Amino acid sequence: MTSQNKTDQNRTPIFEAVKKYIDDKVIPFHVPGHKGGKGIAHGFKDYVGEQIFRMDVNGMEDLDNICNPVGVIKEAENLLARLYNADESFMLVNGTTQGVQAMILYACRPGEEIIIPRNAHRSTLGALILSGAIPVYIQPEIHVDLGISTGLDIRKVRDIIKSHPYAKTVFVNNPTYYGMVSDLKEIVKAAHDENMLVLADEAHGAHFPFHPALPATAMELGADMSAISLHKTGGSMTQSSALLIKRKNVCSNKVNTVVNLMQTTSASYILMVSLDLARKHLALRGKSIMTKVIGLAGYARQRINNIIGLYAFGPELSGQIGIFAFDDTKLCINVRGLGLSGYEVESILRKEYNIQVEMSDFYNILSIISLGDNMENIDSLIDSLKDISQKYSTKTSAKPIITLPTLSMITTPREAFYANKKKVLLEESAGEISGETAMAYPPGIPALCPGERISKDMVDYLKMMKASKYQLLGMEDPHLEYINVLS
Ligand SMILES: Cc1ncc(COP(=O)(O)O)c(C=O)c1O
Repeated sequence: MTSQNKTDQNRTPIFEAVKKYIDDKVIPFHVPGHKGGKGIAHGFKDYVGEQIFRMDVNGMEDLDNICNPVGVIKEAENLLARLYNADESFMLVNGTTQGVQAMILYACRPGEEIIIPRNAHRSTLGALILSGAIPVYIQPEIHVDLGISTGLDIRKVRDIIKSHPYAKTVFVNNPTYYGMVSDLKEIVKAAHDENMLVLADEAHGAHFPFHPALPATAMELGADMSAISLHKTGGSMTQSSALLIKRKNVCSNKVNTVVNLMQTTSASYILMVSLDLARKHLALRGKSIMTKVIGLAGYARQRINNIIGLYAFGPELSGQIGIFAFDDTKLCINVRGLGLSGYEVESILRKEYNIQVEMSDFYNILSIISLGDNMENIDSLIDSLKDISQKYSTKTSAKPIITLPTLSMITTPREAFYANKKKVLLEESAGEISGETAMAYPPGIPALCPGERISKDMVDYLKMMKASKYQLLGMEDPHLEYINVLS
């Protein structure tokens, strides 16, 4: 094979190797024990068919091994790295959570500071506990009319970098769950000037490279590491993600070691094949796919903005504080004007119109528009929202905006995690130091982190979340009657 062939994005090395293994009819004396589906319970096989079980194989010479790839997995990773403008990529089968944790464990030793937005995903909290790194939180900007946090104000980032010269790392969301990006180019410059690494959580940005109208990627802007969820907007299967690195400031052998700390030794070939095929699809058709996706989202925004009580926000927010640019594919709809919470609209859409959105908060719903969507689905959403507006918009008045209270960190998440704890009633917890996390999922952004002093405002906020029937996660008591605090 020529080196020319090895960079050909038409290739799908893992898929080809798995197909060959199946075609060769190898007699399997290896795990998985269902042996190509023969040991799988019948109901399952009847429902999904047989081929998927034949593809469920394990690492071996011709299929390579994710822990130390030198064959088809390495080849597929090289193709992925090339497509994403990275020097190297690592396939991940435990989601972007694994990528985020690997980045932080790579960059920070116990006791070292990491500058990180307070609205980072919960996976960062796990990484802070595992690594013992000390978070220096930057409060993201708040959009007061929409009731959501946005990106970072570059002036604040510069100030915090200057005032924490011993910090090793700056962590950034590119973009936030709602599709807003910070001025990453300037953040990279400010961090690199002080010899800090830049780690990007691009869980919601796997589609960015494929259209010039979309925000620039972390790799393009000079960040050192990035974790991307191909399974979210890149068309691969759930749990399949990738870690991307630039070698200039990052040692790939050490990254490999860290990735392996949290990588299963039995990575699913179904997930890896899906990454291989999604990469090819994006490489060959990404631009036309994204042109269509952007068109669908723009069409939806335009029509929804003619519906009373709704505001589908989008690129017009670019330039407002904390919003350097906006991901045009995100369909975020502010529903305050209906007098309903986002959670209530999500629930009505599901129960009465059979539509499930990605997530909701007090004031907004978020629909992901991606490569699997079509005009028919978009029209169903628009018609349903029109119907909801006719039923509700005149009956109630807009909800007042209540923003997430900010708290002070008293001990690090790791110290709080390992400290002795006692259980107190949430109602009586103001003034205590939290021993656990409380968050709505999605988006999985902690309202309360371990180590933070609980305020009366936070107690009221959590009670309001409970009353709104949010899916609350992170606490030992799922009903949040009690909370663990440091004793
Ligand atoms: C911003 C952000 N980062 C990281 C993750 C973790 O990704 P995964 O679910 O692939 O582990 C998510 C998941 O929703 C996320 O929203």
